[in-house]
Amino acid sequence: MTSQPVQESTVVGIVGAGPAGLMLSHLLSRSGIDSIAVDTRTRDEIEHTHRAGILEQDSVRLLTDTGVDGRVLTQGSEHEGIELRFAGEGHRIDFKHLVGASVWLYPQTDVFIDLANARERDGGDVRFGVRDTKVLEVRDQPVISFVDSEGIAREVRCDYLVGADGSHSICRHEIPESLSTQYFKEYPFAWFGIMTEAPMSAPELIYARHERGFALISQRTEQLQRMYFQCDPATDPGTWSDEMIWNELQTRVSGGGFSLKEGPITEKVVLPFRSFVAEPMRYGRLFLAGDAAHTVPPTGAKGLNLALQDVKVLAEVLDAAVNLGRTELLETYGTRALERVWKAQQFSYRLTTLLHTLPGETPFDAKRQLGELSSIVTSTHGSAHLAECYTGWPTAQL
Ligand code: PHB
Repeated sequence: MTSQPVQESTVVGIVGAGPAGLMLSHLLSRSGIDSIAVDTRTRDEIEHTHRAGILEQDSVRLLTDTGVDGRVLTQGSEHEGIELRFAGEGHRIDFKHLVGASVWLYPQTDVFIDLANARERDGGDVRFGVRDTKVLEVRDQPVISFVDSEGIAREVRCDYLVGADGSHSICRHEIPESLSTQYFKEYPFAWFGIMTEAPMSAPELIYARHERGFALISQRTEQLQRMYFQCDPATDPGTWSDEMIWNELQTRVSGGGFSLKEGPITEKVVLPFRSFVAEPMRYGRLFLAGDAAHTVPPTGAKGLNLALQDVKVLAEVLDAAVNLGRTELLETYGTRALERVWKAQQFSYRLTTLLHTLPGETPFDAKRQLGELSSIVTSTHGSAHLAECYTGWPTAQL
């Protein structure tokens, strides 16, 4: 006979304990609101998933000002600009000079580690490595049912349910199709990503446009670098030797005597590429946050920043609803979050189409693209707009 699930209750049930779920749980606890976060992945699995590495200054502030950890300031590195490379030449976009802002290179895995440590330090209730997660009655009386890492079946009743469960979200599917609009943009390419044990090739990130396609030179530490190049989505990373990869990357960033410092390649992955938004982000007592509601192509490095911004807004309205009874403010969550989401969609799309080559592209398309790049780097207004979008927009106020 199977035993009955153990019954529990909390104010906010959170499906997904990645950066969005953990940050929400952290912010809620600062407002005295209990939550339980569950994730099918183990803590170790999440810590070993490589994701993008750029934090907008508002994201850095959210980590430091709310007492998550100041490690980002000592172990991350502040970047005051990027380089755009095209037609064999590099052009610096100076964020500090143009818009008085900067970004921080601090990988998502480190953000996750800091948040998981902070939740542990503050006695947060986070259950990693659960299985068979289901959500029930999401609109009116939400319940999360799951089997915990020790094999015990549990049911958590909650006043509010948050789906912070990534792009394959189970929570998103609870919103009836007739009430949800899904906006998609597919791109006919992907990114080939590598991790290499090599010294840094440049002090800042390089976004390069070449006839053979896009390349991005990023970093992790003095001895470990992250690089990407545009590829066919059907590419099998195992068929690419280190030599082929270095040739491709060197060609795409070549010009002006610049070359990459090479080293052994320790990881090869092909990353999917698409833009997606599901609206609305709320259905009764269910709220979606982060990748569960929207994904952006990695070009603008906005994914994590959007997720953190979503939960900042969500924590504010949940605080008002739970502590002040102002439930009408829950209505404002989606509108406020989506304003920034669509700006980020536009920026990621623009940076993507500005730097990638399209299959079947004509010489006209290539020349037009170079014309657009040139009009950005030769104009203070053009560069400042790029700098403003890259470093991030202010949060929409209540
Ligand atoms: C990364 O370092 O992984 C990275 C940085 C910037 C991007 C995308 C990825 O736009």
